[in-house]
Amino acid sequence: MLKVNICGVELKNPVIAASGTFGFGEEYLEYYDVSKLGGISTKGLTINPKDGNEGRRIHETRSGLINSIGLQNPGIDEFINVELPKMRKLDTVTIANLGGGTIEDYLAGVEKLNDTDVEIIELNISCPNVKCGGMAFGIKSETAKSVVSQVKQVSKKPVMVKLSPNAEDIVDMAVKCCEGGADAISLVNTFKAMAIDIRKREPVFENVFAGLSGACIKPIALRMVYEVAGAVNVPVVGMGGIMNAEDAIEFIMAGADAIQVGSANFVKPDICLDIIDGIKEFMEQEGIKSLKEIKGIARR
Ligand SMILES: Cc1cc2nc3c(=O)[nH]c(=O)nc-3n(C[C@H](O)[C@H](O)[C@H](O)COP(=O)(O)O)c2cc1C
Repeated sequence: MLKVNICGVELKNPVIAASGTFGFGEEYLEYYDVSKLGGISTKGLTINPKDGNEGRRIHETRSGLINSIGLQNPGIDEFINVELPKMRKLDTVTIANLGGGTIEDYLAGVEKLNDTDVEIIELNISCPNVKCGGMAFGIKSETAKSVVSQVKQVSKKPVMVKLSPNAEDIVDMAVKCCEGGADAISLVNTFKAMAIDIRKREPVFENVFAGLSGACIKPIALRMVYEVAGAVNVPVVGMGGIMNAEDAIEFIMAGADAIQVGSANFVKPDICLDIIDGIKEFMEQEGIKSLKEIKGIARR
């Protein structure tokens, strides 16, 4: 009933834990059986380990979060040797979220992931929190196309390209990434934002700007998913402010094949289970047998 297929990979349901908000899955085992998820997107991986940014990393706003983590991660080798074997035991689809500062970084990362049983590579060309940390590739469509096509030449895995809402033109960006060979598109990453500490009279974050996520971004993320789903012929994975099953269903009705849940995991660690159950309940109430029946149904 809930099964979906994303670039040849079957997910038991359309709910994926979003990168950077779910670690490598293990941390959530104390809250619920994470094998119930459709998939997990890993914390953004880079060739070398990263300590992340100095100073404040998370700032809570009225209806969302601003983060400046700076791609803190153990590096790809440690991921492959230590984290991945544990993730594989979780019995859910493993999506490796890959970050990079240069094209060489991305290519080296893909080559290492090629020899693993990771199912999908999510190419993060959209991280706003590291200098030259990916988003540089996610602003201009032609640059993104070039990165995607070079990655596709070496990748043995399906490549899902994760777009930044800060792209100059989100639809053109998605189309160009598909021309470069993207097997799927996921969107959106965080919005460039800031906060000021009025007592210190200075920006909260060392890098001044950081990434906004959570409930406040949902209407804009939904609009972007709607626009992109109407312009590309590959699966679209939507995210941005999904806090409950109704939000998730909106994204599917806008044209998403699957969805990711990020900041909501920090509000309620087992929220993904509520979302999976809520989608199922809605389908039963409405007599919907397959998600295909409602995918894109709200489109005009
Ligand atoms: C603390 C934090 C860390 C994140 N780290 C990553 C990351 O490493 N790679 C990535 O592609 N997205 C990262 N994101 C973005 C999320 O995966 C997601 O795209 C974004 O938060 C929007 O979804 P949401 O509103 O459900 O949180 C991060 C988000 C947060 C809040």
